[in-house]
Amino acid sequence: MTAENDPVPAALARRPAAAAFPPGFLWGVATSAYQIEGAVGRDGRGASIWDTFSHTPGKVANGHNGDVAADHYDRYEQDVALMSELGVGGYRFSVAWPRIQPDGRGPADARGLDFYRRLVDSLLEKGIQPALTLYHWDLPQALEDEGGWRSRDTAFRFAEYAQLVSEALGDRVKLWGTLNEPWCAAFLGYGNGIHAPGAVDPAGSLRAAHHLLLGHGLAVPAIRAAAPDAEVGITLNFYPVAADSETTADLDAAHRIDLLQNRLFLDPVMEGSYPADVREHFERLCGTDHIETADEKIIGAPVDFLGVNYYTSYRVAGGGEPDGPSPWPGAEDVRFIDRGLPRTGIGWEIDADGLRRQLVRIHQDHPGLKMYITENGAAFDDTVEADGRIEDTDRTAYVEGHLRAVHRAIEEGADVRGYFLWSLLDNFEWAEGYGMRFGVVRVDFETQQRTPKHSALWYGGVALANALPG
Ligand code: FCB
Repeated sequence: MTAENDPVPAALARRPAAAAFPPGFLWGVATSAYQIEGAVGRDGRGASIWDTFSHTPGKVANGHNGDVAADHYDRYEQDVALMSELGVGGYRFSVAWPRIQPDGRGPADARGLDFYRRLVDSLLEKGIQPALTLYHWDLPQALEDEGGWRSRDTAFRFAEYAQLVSEALGDRVKLWGTLNEPWCAAFLGYGNGIHAPGAVDPAGSLRAAHHLLLGHGLAVPAIRAAAPDAEVGITLNFYPVAADSETTADLDAAHRIDLLQNRLFLDPVMEGSYPADVREHFERLCGTDHIETADEKIIGAPVDFLGVNYYTSYRVAGGGEPDGPSPWPGAEDVRFIDRGLPRTGIGWEIDADGLRRQLVRIHQDHPGLKMYITENGAAFDDTVEADGRIEDTDRTAYVEGHLRAVHRAIEEGADVRGYFLWSLLDNFEWAEGYGMRFGVVRVDFETQQRTPKHSALWYGGVALANALPG
């Protein structure tokens, strides 16, 4: 057929087909406590490692901190109403541990629990399903002073905290996540120190990873006991890893990054034991004395779902010059190759198909595992038009591309039940401060005014249709 007699104009023909999602697919948005709540000194909240870290000069871009953030603590009702207007069906948020136990131990502070009760009740009133994460990195400072995640005791403190929260909210929250991205908590927090508490201690970071996993494993039965109807899972951040070439050095580099990034966490959670190569890696870098006989079985407590966070993928090569501490301890020589792909505003290469590959791999390695995408989204600089609109078509395109990848993964058999877009609101993006805007709703941090961007309106339409447009 020639271009002249083609009844469908070429540009239209290139449009991807409409893609319907399975009935009941959960369309959500995500946030975390320290990134949006503010009100750090209110209602008995104790200090967290992120308060200390962000107030330490030089740690966060522009000296930003979460003291006020998006003022969600006082504006949660407005934020829930906004979600409802947009047509969102689920909300993933985290509980600030120091609001519940200001010093990380002892009885729960009723004021802290009440805030989350009010939040959850207002979600339920609007028909929005709450998905609660217990730990999104704001460890009580008092526990860090006793060793933090490098100390085994923190795992037991976490399970106690999980019990307190699930006793209070188990009657109204069904989806429970223990940890968010233990890779970041362990290796950015204690490995290269770009996150709180800012330790540079490669061996300690590997011990922290184990204690985080142990905390997860101890928390699962604690939540189930308090909330028998709960569905319990963990959120991990996955990055598909490819070798730059077939050389032994490059293949070995890819193997180590995959081991440290993906398998160190997923395999023990799913299998109840560390794979042999992960154990060998521990042996080489920090020994295994901190791993007690029953630990791996505890870590393998059956979960109901896996939370998948996805932002990008990696291509790596070996044989580089070690260049300072790495958040992949024992892989300091690995080079991350620039593939020349377009990047988001935070500099992460865009590889939407990587999400499909990752989901299909998890499905193949762990058949039958139920998954939620618990985070996916993009930072871009927004331009506010004269009439106030924010036409963030770059963010919309990112989300659409990744949703198409999720759809393909479902067609290939992956059991994905929902998607939580990161993030509802512009917020405190950790070491980057407020400079990186991930929200589908713009926050003016001077006035705290919320303005839905184009991406938010588009996403609401997708949620309503339960389908991507053709
Ligand atoms: C993830 C975090 C989340 C947010 C996004 C951009 O690693 O879980 O809090 O910072 O990245």
